[in-house]
Amino acid sequence: MILLTRRLPGILYSYRYVVYSAATIISTFIYFLFKWNLLCVNLQAWRHVERVCSLFDKGLALGSLCAPLCISKDILSLTCHSFQSAKDAVFSAEWHDIKLVFKSVPMDVQPIHWYDNGVLKYPTEKEFLSTIRTIVKRKLNLTLAYDTAVRLTHLKPSYEEQDLKKRHLEMDHLWYLLQDNEYLLSTIFTDKDIFPQPIGTCGPYFAVEYLEPIRITTGVFSVEDSLATWSLKLKLALNILDLLEELDSSFREPFHLCDIKLNHFGYTSNRKKLKFIDLNMAFPRTIIASLFKDLNFCDKDLDCQYLDCKAMCNKTSNMCDNLVTSDNHQIICEKIFLGWRMSNTVQVPGLLISEYTPDELASILRQCANARPDTELKRRLYDIIYEVLQAVNV
Ligand SMILES: Nc1ncnc2c1ncn2[C@@H]1O[C@H](COP(=O)(O)OP(=O)(O)OP(=O)(O)O)[C@@H](O)[C@H]1O
Ligand SMILES: *[C@@H]1O[C@H](CO)[C@@H](O)[C@H](O)[C@H]1NC(C)=O
Ligand SMILES: *[C@@H]1O[C@H](CO)[C@@H](O)[C@H](O)[C@H]1NC(C)=O
Repeated sequence: MILLTRRLPGILYSYRYVVYSAATIISTFIYFLFKWNLLCVNLQAWRHVERVCSLFDKGLALGSLCAPLCISKDILSLTCHSFQSAKDAVFSAEWHDIKLVFKSVPMDVQPIHWYDNGVLKYPTEKEFLSTIRTIVKRKLNLTLAYDTAVRLTHLKPSYEEQDLKKRHLEMDHLWYLLQDNEYLLSTIFTDKDIFPQPIGTCGPYFAVEYLEPIRITTGVFSVEDSLATWSLKLKLALNILDLLEELDSSFREPFHLCDIKLNHFGYTSNRKKLKFIDLNMAFPRTIIASLFKDLNFCDKDLDCQYLDCKAMCNKTSNMCDNLVTSDNHQIICEKIFLGWRMSNTVQVPGLLISEYTPDELASILRQCANARPDTELKRRLYDIIYEVLQAVNV
């Protein structure tokens, strides 16, 4: 070893301790990049496929995507998605002409089956159906129509598994999948086409349609401020407002997005529609209120806050109010359209702040960001962005 090192170029040898330390620091750095999911390689995505396919080969995984993943192998071009994901696995893939994103669900919840004197037991169909309805009631405060509930209790919409062993495995999978807010929302509300469309599952993995990320940069990184970019930004703003309108009015009660970031929006493949990607933090209003109520104690408003979702602290009872005070429009105006304050001094310009921004738009944006906007202000905001866009496009 020493001999080998001696043969290294002289300069490297004289600085060998520096070289050793540098190598150690660099490899530690790279190790943590992977460990904290800041970096990933496509190999990791393939490893997930290997894992689920080995389950499939043993008869321990089923779902509509198992065959294309493991037998015909026509799901290709696996690409991993880094960033600290709460989910174990997030990777995109191509299946013929469709781009899809695979996600895994955690399996550390109590399973649906149990043991009775060492005998493996499963709920009956009737019990399973009512359990699923109870979950949906608890997670979304929604009483499912019978047909929708039946659809949720099967992996394939119009197929009833007759083989009891396979049916039990299907129940196991469904049970884990349905705990996941994203799987739940995209499966229940497929017909509304507001959330990413579900495509299929295999074992504890499900796939949804791939959404094109927003390529427009804002803030300090937006260097090119051409009129063409400005027009794109205005269009995006209108698409975002359309989506918020749907979240407000398409459901029995409004949906709140508690983790709003520009990179949580994405366009469908035909670029016709903008959807929200991060459904783990999207909840109906009463559910957020009950999340706050479960906190039991607060002494300031800041205690009644869950990412972007907020309520007020009742100083008499020291409990969060039952009323959600945050509002999707207000958060979007503040964090996305107007910009945000860095360390209370530097104002980072948002999507709609540029040299082309008319004063009237800036003023409406400030109003909208400062207090929960009413219907009138929401309409004025939409109209003025629309007008500015028309003026740019002539
Ligand atoms: N349907 C999709 N289409 C395109 N990209 C997606 C899709 N779903 C997830 N991604 C990408 O994978 C990343 C992580 O996915 P997801 O949002 O589900 O996990 P997360 O734990 O909520 O991560 P984060 O909150 O950091 O974004 C997203 O930020 C996005 O870049
Ligand atoms: C569920 O919704 C109903 C009707 O909107 C409401 O009265 C009830 O308080 C909600 N339940 C919970 C747990 O929030
Ligand atoms: C605060 O809680 C007390 C006790 O529960 C209640 O009487 C009061 O009306 C609440 N105040 C507000 C502003 O909601």
